[in-house]
Amino acid sequence: MKFSKILLTGSGGQIGSELTLALREIYGAQNVIASDIKKPCSEKLETSGPFEILNVLDKEAIKNLVLKYNVDMIVHLAAILSAIGEQKPMLAWDVNINGMINVLEVAREMKLKQVMVPSSIAAFGPGTPIDNTPQETILKPTTMYGVTKVAGELLGEYYVNKFGLDVRGLRYPGIISNDTLPGGGTTDYAVAIYYEAVKYGKYTCFVKEDTRLPMMYMPDCLKATIDLMHADFTKLKHHSDFNVGAMSFSVKDLADSIKKYIPTFTIDYQPDFRQAIADSWPNSVDDTAAREEWGWKPSFDLDTMTQDMLKVIGEKHKKGLI
Ligand code: SER
Repeated sequence: MKFSKILLTGSGGQIGSELTLALREIYGAQNVIASDIKKPCSEKLETSGPFEILNVLDKEAIKNLVLKYNVDMIVHLAAILSAIGEQKPMLAWDVNINGMINVLEVAREMKLKQVMVPSSIAAFGPGTPIDNTPQETILKPTTMYGVTKVAGELLGEYYVNKFGLDVRGLRYPGIISNDTLPGGGTTDYAVAIYYEAVKYGKYTCFVKEDTRLPMMYMPDCLKATIDLMHADFTKLKHHSDFNVGAMSFSVKDLADSIKKYIPTFTIDYQPDFRQAIADSWPNSVDDTAAREEWGWKPSFDLDTMTQDMLKVIGEKHKKGLI
C-alpha cells in the first residue's frame, strides 16, 4: 500500500463520491477521509467511513484534518466547473486557485507523500489542434475554469520542481456516470441525456448535435486516477497534465447509441452559452504519454457504456429512486 491515510476534498461531487468508495475498497474505510463543503447527498459516503465538512479556502482547517487523521496523501477534487465558472468567474478563480494553493502548501509544510489534482480538457482553447490534441500544445483557454486549470497544471509542476513535492494530475475529459450527477459543467449533457431517456424518452440538449468532445465512463476515470496515484514517480516525465483519452463522440452519435436500446427516444436541440465553451475544446486527445509512462488503457467504448448506463439508471427508475 502506498499511503496510510488519504484525504479527499470535494468528495460529494460526481468523481469524489465514487472515488472515495473505490479508495475505501483498496485502503480500508477508516483510512480514506471524505470531505466536502456541505453534507453529501449520498449517505454511503458518511456511513462507510469518516466524513468531515471542509472549505478548501480555509488552510488551517485542511491542516487540522491532516493532523487529526495523520493524512499522507490528498486527492484535491473540490472545484467550480466550466459553466458555473462563466457565471461566477471570481468564485471559480478563488476556489480553484486559492483552494489548490492551500492544499499544496499544507502538503509541502507537512511533507505529505503525494497530492493528486485533476486538470481537464478545459485547459485547451481555440488555438489548440482539435483532433488527437497533443500532450504538449497551445494552452490558451477562453473560460475562467480553463484558465484555473492551466494555472493549476503549472503550479503542480512548480511544486514538483521547486519543492520536490509529488503532485500528479490528469486532464479529465467529460466524465459520464450513474451515481452522483455532475454539477455546473459543460459536458453534463452526456449524463443528463441518459436520465431523461430513461425517465421521459426524450431530451433537449443545450449544445448542437454535431458537438463532439472527448468523454470517459466513470469506471475508466477511477482506474486512470488510481493507476496514476500508484505509478512509479521515477518513471514519470509529466506530472500534473496527462492527456487521457477513452472515447470521442458527437451528441448525434450519443443519441443514436441510446436509440439502439430505446428506439422511441427523441432528441431536440436548444444551444445556450455552453455551446461556445464546448466549441473551444478539442474533439479527441492523444494520450500516448499516459500510455507510455504509466500504462493507461481505457476499457469502455460508447456502446458498452450506453448499455451499462441504461441498465443501472433503468433499475433506479423502476425502484422509484430517480
Ligand atoms: N466536465 C468539465 C466541465 O464540463 C470539464 O472538465 O466543466
